[in-house]
Amino acid sequence: MFITLEGIEGSGKTSQLKHVIKFLQSKGYDCIGTREPGGTMIGEKIRAILLDPENKALDPLTELLLYVADRTQHIMEFVNPLLSAGKTVVCDRYYDATTVYQGFARGIDVGLINRLHSLVLEDVKPDITILLDLPPQTGLSRAWKQIKSGARTGDETRFEAETILFHEKVRAGYLELAGHEPERFRVIDAMQDEDKVKKDIIRELSLFLSVTENSRDGKLQ
Ligand code: TMP
Repeated sequence: MFITLEGIEGSGKTSQLKHVIKFLQSKGYDCIGTREPGGTMIGEKIRAILLDPENKALDPLTELLLYVADRTQHIMEFVNPLLSAGKTVVCDRYYDATTVYQGFARGIDVGLINRLHSLVLEDVKPDITILLDLPPQTGLSRAWKQIKSGARTGDETRFEAETILFHEKVRAGYLELAGHEPERFRVIDAMQDEDKVKKDIIRELSLFLSVTENSRDGKLQ
């Protein structure tokens, strides 16, 4: 099973990923957390280039290709072997992030992004995607607070430094994707406190798991 978490900066994905893994492990799932960009040694090097605030000259197409390169390495080296071995993988961001950040917000043709993904991803699609939604003003002020307090590194702020308009396009893009694929997306109100967000995610995951397990048991009978 492949689960992804998405959302704008400061939506709390990273904390919620830990809660999701704990919950799934308590239900007996052999579960591993990972992230994009990153997740492999090579991917972490690509991540450093992509998020370095000094890299102001990074061309949008170079940026897109680096995200796709990172994802290809991650899927081939890490995610695919785990899924094939029957594990559950929970990933902090996946291809929806490219569609909204590089497509909707940067303005690169979404058709090109889809073609690139279909060339390299061997049809690895999330079974369920949790979208943590909140207004960019709140998300960005949370993110900068964490960076200024040292809770998050200041070496990865290239996207936090983008305009509010950019982040509004990202948020609207995510909601549009969720509207197109309601069977895959679960939209959670991330303005709530961490514990309430966690409870909402666990409720959605529990429902999803019970439907999945029932349909699997039905096929076995
Ligand atoms: P994060 O690890 O804090 O979520 O940061 C990753 C940043 O990279 C975030 O600002 C979103 C951005 N990003 C893209 O622009 N495209 C992508 O495909 C992915 C995975 C992330």
